[in-house]
Amino acid sequence: MDDLAAVSIDVVFPPEARAAALRDEVRVGLTAVPKELQPKWFYDDRGSALFDQITRLPEYYLTRAERAILSTRADEIAALTKADTLVELGSGTSEKTRILLDALMPERFVAFDVSADTLCASAQALATHYPRLAVAGVVGDFEQHLTALPRGRRRLLAFLGSTIGNLPPPTRAMFLRDVAAVLAGDESFLLGVDLVKDPARLAAAYNDEAGVSAEFNRNVLHVLNRELEADFDARAFAHVAEWDPHEEWVVMSLRSLRRQSVRLDALDLSVAFADGELMRTEISAKFRRESITAELAAAGLRVRRWWEDAAGDYAVLVASPSGSR
Ligand code: AVJ
Repeated sequence: MDDLAAVSIDVVFPPEARAAALRDEVRVGLTAVPKELQPKWFYDDRGSALFDQITRLPEYYLTRAERAILSTRADEIAALTKADTLVELGSGTSEKTRILLDALMPERFVAFDVSADTLCASAQALATHYPRLAVAGVVGDFEQHLTALPRGRRRLLAFLGSTIGNLPPPTRAMFLRDVAAVLAGDESFLLGVDLVKDPARLAAAYNDEAGVSAEFNRNVLHVLNRELEADFDARAFAHVAEWDPHEEWVVMSLRSLRRQSVRLDALDLSVAFADGELMRTEISAKFRRESITAELAAAGLRVRRWWEDAAGDYAVLVASPSGSR
């Protein structure tokens, strides 16, 4: 076995609590009208691998646009924030993290993720690649456990990938208030947001030719089959992703292809689906500069810098608590 670099992991969301949250949320979601599931349950090993494939699809411009901004602005981010600790929410795959680490050269990196496996793998890889970096991990849900983040002297809290778009507006407002509350005046929040654009391009990004988005969407059914002893027939559900021009979000759903009944033994629950019934699995909100700036301000965060990629598809911003200079 290779020598493993030392990584300290703090588990604030243990597997039992996570399993209980899955049971509660799925029961609520499947008995609601219309039915819905939370996107956080997409990301088991297969779901994470499928999302990784999505980031390389020709239609999915988000990841490339964000990487382009981070590559060109990393030095500015470092100079502006003077952070000695980088905290990344949803540690994901490490490429964008490395761009930031190379520019910031912080003393400490803290990975925060809901999946212990993902977290350990990415923390371990970074600790090996950056032997002088102190690497820590927190297993938590960023909707609940932000206060469990370790203090640093001057932290940069990064939330990239436009994952904020998955939170419904009330949850988003709560999350941003939590961010403002945990940050000291001289600390910063680095946020990546996908921008409102041509609906055809938005729709294409979530309806790729290769069908990876469809597999990713249906994967949540495999997760429920395994984790909740359910008997979803994934082939009996079709992938749907549509731009909602009023809400300004892409809504992803699964459409039942026939009348069917699904059993979830772990919940002692049977659920009936009508032919054609839609079950919402994700919203992916798209942003405008004015509106996200106002949302951040309402939460107590002041936008200090805003950068877009050349096409104006995507933005990365730095914000700090409003009272600070
Ligand atoms: C990683 C959550 C930002 O909403 O674009 C990709 C997830 N869903 N294709 C997104 C996703 C469908 C992605 N986020």
